[in-house]
This record gives sequence, C-alpha cells and structure tokens, in this order.
Amino acid sequence: MDRGTRPAVLVTGGAGYIGTHTAKALYEQGFLPVVFDDLSSGFREAARWGAFVHGDIRDARALGEAIDAHGVKAVIHFAGLIEVGRSVARPDLFWDINVSGTVSLLAALRERDVDRLVFSSSAAVYGQGGRGPLETIGEDAPKAPASPYGDTKLACEWMIAAACRAYGLSAVALRYFNAAGADPSGEIGEAHEPETHLIPLAIAAGLGRGKPLTVFGQDFDTPDGTCLRDYIHVSDLAAAHVAALQVDLPAGAFEAVNVGTGQGRSVLQVVEAVGRALGRPVPYATGARRAGDPPSLVADPARAVELLNWSAKCSDLDRIVTDALRWEQDPAYGAGHRAQGGRLSKAPTQ
Ligand SMILES: NC(=O)c1ccc[n+]([C@@H]2O[C@H](COP(=O)([O-])OP(=O)(O)OC[C@H]3O[C@@H](n4cnc5c(N)ncnc54)[C@H](O)[C@@H]3O)[C@@H](O)[C@H]2O)c1
Repeated sequence: MDRGTRPAVLVTGGAGYIGTHTAKALYEQGFLPVVFDDLSSGFREAARWGAFVHGDIRDARALGEAIDAHGVKAVIHFAGLIEVGRSVARPDLFWDINVSGTVSLLAALRERDVDRLVFSSSAAVYGQGGRGPLETIGEDAPKAPASPYGDTKLACEWMIAAACRAYGLSAVALRYFNAAGADPSGEIGEAHEPETHLIPLAIAAGLGRGKPLTVFGQDFDTPDGTCLRDYIHVSDLAAAHVAALQVDLPAGAFEAVNVGTGQGRSVLQVVEAVGRALGRPVPYATGARRAGDPPSLVADPARAVELLNWSAKCSDLDRIVTDALRWEQDPAYGAGHRAQGGRLSKAPTQ
C-alpha cells in the first residue's frame, strides 16, 4: 500500500515496548503509524514502521504540528512513565509527564479533526479495592490505586472522559494487566531500563546474566502462596489497540476496557515456565512481600470480547516465555544489546 493512502495514526510513546509492537501491527493492518516520542526510555531503532517525530508530549504545539503534517485522524497514547516504585519516590514527575502530558495532548486535539483516542491505562487503577482475594476484576470494580502511578492513570481516564463529552471525541481506555512476551519475529521486544518485570528478570537470572531472582512473598492466600497475575502477550495487546481504534462509537463516548486473559498465573508458575524454556531451573530466593502487592490481579475480559470483538490469541504462558526468551537471547537494542557488544544481528524489516 502506498504510504500516502494509509490513514495516519499518531502513536505517542511509540518507540517503547508496547508502542513498538502496536506500530508494527498498525502498519501491517494498512495504517501509517506516526510515532511521537522523546526517546527518554524508548529506542529510535525500534520505531521502524511509519514516520518518526522526536518530541515531548508536554509540548502541545509540537503535537499539533505532527497531527497537521500527517493528517492524523486518530491517536494512541502510550507515552509516560511506568515504574510504580519510582512513582512513590517522585510523584511530581509522574503527574507532570503522565497527567500534564495528557492535558497537553487533549489541548492539541481540541481544535483538530481527530475523532478517536486510545489510551494506555492500567490494572493499577483498581489497586486492592473491595473484592475477594481470588476474584477476577470487572471494569466496574472499585477504583483504589495503590501508587501515584495508578493515580495518574485514573486521573487521565477522568480527564479523557470529560474531554470526550466536551469536544465530541470518542475514546477507549485499555486497562492492561501484565504486558509480556515479544514479537515472534524476535526483531522487537521488551527493553526497559531498569527492568522491573518478572519474565525478563527470570530469564536474565536463568541465563546467569542479571541479578539473582527474588520471589516476593510465598505466604499469600493463593494456591502456591505466590502472587497471581494475568500475563497478556504484547502481540495480543497490540491487536487490542487496533480493534479499539476501529470500533464504532458515538461522538462523546468514553469506554474503559480490561485487556487480559482471565487466567491467573503465579510467580512460581512463571519461574517454572522460564525454566522449561531454558531447559534448566531458574535459581531464586524468597523475599518478604512488597508493600501494596495484591495477592491476585486477574482481569474479567468479557467487556473486551463484547465491545472490541477481541480476545487473547497468543497469551499461553509457555508461548509468552518462548517469545520473550528469543528476544532476550539476542536483543536488537537496549541494555542487553549493549552488553552483547552492540552488534545488530537483526536486519530491520522496513
Ligand atoms: N508494560 C506494562 O506491563 C504496562 C501495563 C499497564 C499499562 N502500561 C502503560 O502502557 C504504556 C506503555 O508502556 P511500555 O511498557 O511500553 O513503556 P515504555 O517505557 O517502554 O514506553 C514509554 C514510551 O514513552 C516515551 N515517553 C516517555 N515520556 C515521554 C514524553 N514526555 N514525551 C514523549 N514520549 C515520552 C518513552 O521514550 C517510551 O518510548 C505506558 O503508558 C504504561 O503506563 C504498561
């Protein structure tokens, strides 16, 4: 398809982990992703599909120029800070980038002909609030974020909902559970610095590269005593964004949708799956519980099926781990890539 005939979609934070996978999915579905990213945690070489604009989301003028230059009609908003622990130490930074950045994006959209916004929200908006320990979480569950990070996601949802009512925009907030895995091609993957997510940390420990793995708490009220989480393959997440972009919604509508599998996997099940993929057990130590860690965070994904006609297709735990391992053994960018001497073993596809 000719570049000029593709509908342009602004992808803020599109050089990051989930944004990169979504930009690839958009391109494959006939869209032109216009990645807008300040590269504070993303990678220029990961933004291989469509156009790239270097900029800060707090700069409404730069956002407006990117929208006008490419004739953008829809936006997917990933850009922001993501580390929960850091948000506890620096809530000011999180409110500045996540919340003020979203204010700035909405200001840029107000007088432009953009009719759909898809926002990266999070299961962090639910916190622990008001449910039994092993219940799945529906979108109507009480919102009780347990960190400033979760607060910022909920504040953005409220602001986006108000902007929809005011400007006639329609929006979908996707509340992701635990994003994991990597594109099956091995050309893009997870490269957070520092890495705080379980699967890459378990792989690094298993490969003898990273710090020894600590399992935080083995005394939760769960089948094996470790926390249950809902791991969703990043390719499934990317597909959910493409669906949210295209779903028919009236002007002014705001929808919040869980993106998960509905299946809880324990920390020890993940560690075992990494061991299976590696062909040897992952060494780990048991540590104390972390403050604010709920025993279980598992989505009820019924609304995603109903509204988006979307369900997880490749989020089997062994598949997630196999795809993550393929990437971690030979990452094309990020700290792991530099540690291997910075050789680019994967030719860009575009
Ligand atoms: N990874 C998860 O499991 C998960 C779960 C729930 C929600 N989310 C949300 O999904 C989104 C993407 O997460 P990710 O894991 O891909 O993170 P990431 O850090 O890999 O990507 C974030 C991107 O945003 C860019 N960015 C940061 N500040 C910016 C700014 N001021 N201006 C422009 N660009 C900026 C970064 O350079 C990076 O490319 C985030 O909003 C995150 O809160 C992630």
